[in-house]
This record gives sequence, C-alpha cells and structure tokens, in this order.
Amino acid sequence: MPRLLVRDLAQVVSPAGTSAPLRGDALRQVTVLEDAFVLCDGASIEAVGRMAELPPLAGDVEELDGSGLCALAGLVDCHTHPAWGGDRVEEFALRARGASYEELHAAGGGILSTVTATRALGEAGLGTRVAEHAAWMLAHGTTTWEGKSGYGLDRETELASLRAVRAAGGSPTWLGAHAVPPEHADADAYLDFALAEVLPEAAQLADAADVFLERGAFDAAQARRYLQACRDSGLVLRLHGDQFTESGAIPLAIELGARSVDHLEATGPAGIAALAGSDVVGVLLPASALFLDRPMPPARALADAGAAIALATDFNPGSAFTTSLPLVASLACTQLHLGPEEALAALTVNPAHVLGCARDRGRIAPGFQADLTLLDAPDWRYLAYHLAGDVVAAVVRRGSLGFRR
Ligand code: NIG
Ligand code: FE
Repeated sequence: MPRLLVRDLAQVVSPAGTSAPLRGDALRQVTVLEDAFVLCDGASIEAVGRMAELPPLAGDVEELDGSGLCALAGLVDCHTHPAWGGDRVEEFALRARGASYEELHAAGGGILSTVTATRALGEAGLGTRVAEHAAWMLAHGTTTWEGKSGYGLDRETELASLRAVRAAGGSPTWLGAHAVPPEHADADAYLDFALAEVLPEAAQLADAADVFLERGAFDAAQARRYLQACRDSGLVLRLHGDQFTESGAIPLAIELGARSVDHLEATGPAGIAALAGSDVVGVLLPASALFLDRPMPPARALADAGAAIALATDFNPGSAFTTSLPLVASLACTQLHLGPEEALAALTVNPAHVLGCARDRGRIAPGFQADLTLLDAPDWRYLAYHLAGDVVAAVVRRGSLGFRR
C-alpha cells in the first residue's frame, strides 16, 4: 500500500490533548492547522503539519488534492441500530398525524413490527441490509461505528445481526433486551430464554451489551439482571435510559460501571449531577428527539456540570431514520446549545472512548488510524453550520479513499 499525502488542506482540525474522554474545558479545545497536510502510511497517520513544513518525500506517494477542504478525524457513531428489515414508513405517516410512538409500540407496532420483518430476512438478507446501511454512514463521514442487534430477539436472528455488523466493519452490541417478543409470556420469561440460550454465543460475537430500560420495555430490576449476566460474560455495558421517563438508568449504570447511558431526554437535575460525577458517558441522540418530536436532552447542563458527553445518530427505522452525523452536529449546536468544538469532541474522541478505541481513533495525530472526513468547506465549523448540506466531500478510511462525492 503506497503512502497517501492529503495536501493543501484549508484546515486540519482535531480535539486538543491526548486524553479521553474529554469533559469540561477540555471539551472545548481544538487544534486548527491552516494550509496543512496529512500523510498516511498504510492504515496509520505518519505525520500532520503545515504545507510549509512538508519534508521531501521519497518513494511511492499517492497524492490527494485537499484544496478547499477541511480535514476532521473520521467521525465515530457510537449508537446505531443498523440490523433490520422492512421499514416503518406507515408508522411515520401515522405519527405525522398525531399517533404517539409509545402507543404504537404498546399496540404491537413499533419495534415489534420491525422484529417480524427482520426475522423474515434471513442471514444473507440481513448482511445485505447492514452493508447498505454501513455505506450510508460512510457517505456521511462515519468511519467507526457501533451497531446493535435487537430486532431479532430470537437466537438465530440476534446472532446473525451481530455477525452482520462485524462483517460490515462495525462494533457489535448485543441489544438482547430491546423488547419482549410475542412468543414469551413476559419480560422475565424472555430474559430466562435470552440469558440461557443467546448470551453464551452473543458474548463471543459482541463487544458490548445494551438494554432498553423504560416503561413498557424492561424495568430496573430486569435490566440489572440482564446487565450483570452480560458483564459476567465479559461484555462492556451500555443502557438506553431516561428516553421517556427517569426509570433508574443512571444510578444503575453507575452502580454496574457501564460505559455509557444513552438518550437522557427525560433526565433531571439529580441525574445530571450523578452522571457528571461518574465515569459513565452520556450519549445524546438529538436526531431521535427531533424525529419523535420529544424534548431535547439537557446537553448544556451536562457539559457545564462536567459530564463526559458523546453524540450519535441512533440510526433505526422507527425513532431516528438518519445516518448523518453532520445533521447531529447541526442539532447539537442549534438545539442542544453545544459549541462546534464541543460537538466535534462529542463526535470523535468521546464516542471512540465509548467504543474502547480512543487510543487510535478520534484524533488526527501520528500513530492514529488513517481515517479522515474531508469537508467541502472553508471552515471546519460548516460541519454543523451547513444544515443538511452535502458537506462531506470525501472520506479516507484506513489510509484509502473510501468515499468521494
Ligand atoms: O434507541 N428506544 C429504543 N430503541 C430505539 C428505537 C427502536 C425503534 O423504534 O425501532 C431507540 O430509539
Ligand atoms: Fe437506540
């Protein structure tokens, strides 16, 4: 693989420092190099600097003209649900006229209708869908991503979902406790099955486990049982919590040493203070709040209290049908009142920490993976500023051009 020189970039921008996760003042510090280059050697970054300091390069070097572009570290989407069949466009139309997401779910629609469509896909069909969704993510500048199961809820489809995410280049999370499928009498009976029959193999395939702790899904006692078993099998813990109600997700996440608690639209002052005093990352999903016309999560208060925050799409067919992290950046600045610098840290270093790969992902620095998102913009803050703009011009993944508009 020849070296790749991305040259004459208007700006190269990366969160400052070397630590992860970033919080407080450190969340706002970025390094901006103008008229700059990034040199990749194979899958790693070899050097970054100003064009004026570019040394003569011997040997085989491929060049990419970066004039008029800004380079960011490849964006990291730490919360997606890409393994599903069918769609929810009918439900979308019903919601548009006033039906509520929770009512549709309680009536057997919502997540469970996607479960039926996902089971019908089969392993090959599931692989095709996940690969298609991964291509959408790449075209929006996402180079590292997490993908959850949770629309199979039987042994075969859950394991096939995890394999499909890994095959498409994602980090699989077993969302075995997403909803109770109709063949089980109740949540406890379903968990008996899932922990006995699915967890042993899921733990070999996945990096993390996740649970939907919410009224109508799993309560705190059920979530504790599920997460403890997953932790005992070596999985990192994540929670969907405080989406509609404060149901104990933050205290449970802290008690169990979870990596993150995600959603937080319903989180109040006590939850904000508890999260800020912990090592658990708060993952904010403003596209989901927008899509469901729900209150936005208290991102400003969390950041001001010193919490480690990340942003993600929550890509799924029901509550957030988008793979665009640039859209999430715009929502972060316009709806969550985060600055562009905070949004950048929350889309790079901090989600990389959530996925356990901040050692070499989320920054543009020598030794880091050669993942670059190149923006068609004179200033990197167009990432958030150009609302729904076609801002991603090209994406370099592991030292190769993975996408070009
Ligand atoms: O994160 N809240 C639970 N799970 C997903 C939505 C799943 C769906 O509606 O299909 C979420 O929003
Ligand atoms: Fe989600």
